[in-house]
Amino acid sequence: MAGKLMHAILYEGYGGGAAGLKHVEVPVPSPKKDEVLLKVEATGINPVDWKVQKGELRPILPRKFPFVPGTDVAGEVIEVGPGVDNFKAGDKVVAFLTHTSGGGLAEYAVASKSLTVERPLEVSAAEGAGLPIAGLTALQALTDASGIKLDGTGEPTNILITAASGGVGPYAVQLAKLGKVHVTATCGARNIDLVKSLGADEVLDYKTPEGAALTSPSGRKYDFVIHCATGISFSTFEPNLSEKGKVIDVTPGPTSVMVSAYKKLTCSKKQLVPLVVSPKGENLAYLVNLVKEGKIKTIIDSKHPLSRAEDAWAKSIEGHATGKIIVEP
Ligand SMILES: NC(=O)c1ccc[n+]([C@@H]2O[C@H](COP(=O)([O-])OP(=O)(O)OC[C@H]3O[C@@H](n4cnc5c(N)ncnc54)[C@H](OP(=O)(O)O)[C@@H]3O)[C@@H](O)[C@H]2O)c1
Repeated sequence: MAGKLMHAILYEGYGGGAAGLKHVEVPVPSPKKDEVLLKVEATGINPVDWKVQKGELRPILPRKFPFVPGTDVAGEVIEVGPGVDNFKAGDKVVAFLTHTSGGGLAEYAVASKSLTVERPLEVSAAEGAGLPIAGLTALQALTDASGIKLDGTGEPTNILITAASGGVGPYAVQLAKLGKVHVTATCGARNIDLVKSLGADEVLDYKTPEGAALTSPSGRKYDFVIHCATGISFSTFEPNLSEKGKVIDVTPGPTSVMVSAYKKLTCSKKQLVPLVVSPKGENLAYLVNLVKEGKIKTIIDSKHPLSRAEDAWAKSIEGHATGKIIVEP
């Protein structure tokens, strides 16, 4: 592929939103040691993509420009670099490209072999591309942070999942139900039936007084909250938590880090736990297999061609997606 050009989307500085994205022709990248070159078939958009462009995450995820965004891809292996013996040209895969390298909004992308997993025929490119950040975050929040056993052998547990209709929430609801826990979920009125169909036991419309108060209709107290929404303070969660209830905050900002530290220092039984996803190939493979087996599914909000990637970007910034926003070359 050396010397061949491809269509890619990039931005050249912080800010600008969807209008800051540029369509360019750039050389197809070459896979280095332990990397594979993929022909991209689908790319999942995540809020972190435009938060990084906005400069919100500059201290932890600084950017070098120009930058081709996009971390969650599904595609076909075209070429393998030195040291890759687990993939060959023609293999269908899902990959996480890492926040530092990005590169997913393009016709071709290079991925590390350790964060690339096989994609069986039963899993479409769009379903696969929805999984990396959103699915891994849901999995990590439920298992590592909350100790839920997804084989259903754990203690009876009540959990609340906020923003159960977005990118992360639907995976969290479905995975939690594999663990046989009782799920209360929040979403907007238009998505209540969808979230119930994913297995939630009770669903609150977040725009009603009960929804805003997060009160379980059946009077349950939550052992864990998988908090996928933003703008809800710990004091709203606190009266709804069980004695040792924990809020797992997947959008931790300075306030939640401070509240978390304060709760620890004061030995509070109720805790706030900031969570940042740490992607692992084996966990991605586990999720892809669950999709293959029909145990979880990717809810797709919308699909956009690469030639209109800015529409996908704008849709994510609006914050009203139902499931994953997908871009297809
Ligand atoms: N820590 C990490 O590593 C990590 C990983 C992944 C995601 N995140 C963060 O997690 C958050 C969620 O990500 P996402 O991809 O799921 O976002 P998303 O897809 O943009 O979420 C949109 C959905 O959230 C619903 N929603 C918004 N406010 C709500 C509220 N107060 N209560 C209930 N539902 C609400 C919207 O419903 P309506 O349209 O009805 O308003 C919409 O369906 C983002 O802030 C993201 O940056 C962090």
